[in-house]
Amino acid sequence: MRNPQLNAQGELQHLLTIEGLPAAIIRQILDTAEPFVSIAEREVKKVPLLRGKSIFNLFFENSTRTRTTFEIAAKRLSADVINLNVGASSTAKGETLLDTVNNLSAMLADMFVVRHAQSGAAHLIAQHVAPHIHVINAGDGRHAHPTQGLLDMFTIRHYKGDFTRLVVAIVGDVLHSRVARSQIHALTTLGVPELRVIAPKTLLPTAVERLGVRVFHDLAQGLRGADVVIMLRLQSERMRGALLPSAQEYFKHYGLTPERLEVANPDVIVMHPGPMNRGVEIDSAVADGSHSVILPQVTFGIAVRMAVMAILAGN
Ligand code: CP
Repeated sequence: MRNPQLNAQGELQHLLTIEGLPAAIIRQILDTAEPFVSIAEREVKKVPLLRGKSIFNLFFENSTRTRTTFEIAAKRLSADVINLNVGASSTAKGETLLDTVNNLSAMLADMFVVRHAQSGAAHLIAQHVAPHIHVINAGDGRHAHPTQGLLDMFTIRHYKGDFTRLVVAIVGDVLHSRVARSQIHALTTLGVPELRVIAPKTLLPTAVERLGVRVFHDLAQGLRGADVVIMLRLQSERMRGALLPSAQEYFKHYGLTPERLEVANPDVIVMHPGPMNRGVEIDSAVADGSHSVILPQVTFGIAVRMAVMAILAGN
């Protein structure tokens, strides 16, 4: 069966998920992003690659980093950016998602960037839009957040180089995390030999090992020798019922402190997709410490999102 995000030539038509995305396309995105990083250092932070294109940001869920960096990325590519104010849109009057998209398509949209609480929302839109329109998933339910996964890969490659010798540990609420799923698919596709998830049983999907990860329930054991540690937020908004005794109890067992990080490699990098809950999954001394690359992740996100939009517009 043809991958719904690739065109007949095997090129990227939409970016919906990292699952099933060929390693060559992931590398193409990371390589394309490299020169875009330096555009931020220019006096005029713009290139004309998307001049005349209209990009619609449709965020049906809250966002600080993703929405803003998509907007910056599109503007740096010289596109016209339209941010739909969902709260003030006709969605609030009962218009369906596809009717909203059809109406925006009639305004000659070239690309939709979509965040939605419902898994599969971006997929649905991609199935319905005209062939010249591209769709980017900016996070759908628990399913996928591909540009976050890609910017995380860019960050890891920037600091560590080769993926094929790394020990990577993902810590926390994997069960509810679309980011963790995208990271796991990207890291396995890029050949990371030792990928660990560290969490209580209640915060792991059933049969998570089938995704190619080693499971640890003890933080110290899972962090031992790690080159990269990725912390995840407790996604209380997606939890049905109490999966943990309390946030304090969680921090006691799974919160990352400088002392707990000592068992990792001395040059370990600590990542977090944000938003961070200080004192719940991560201590401020780590979040703001010398191993943290959390803010560079955000900056690299602009270049990676520019790369995704530039590649789509060229296909
Ligand atoms: N990492 C991430 O998706 O952050 P936002 O929710 O702020 O976009």
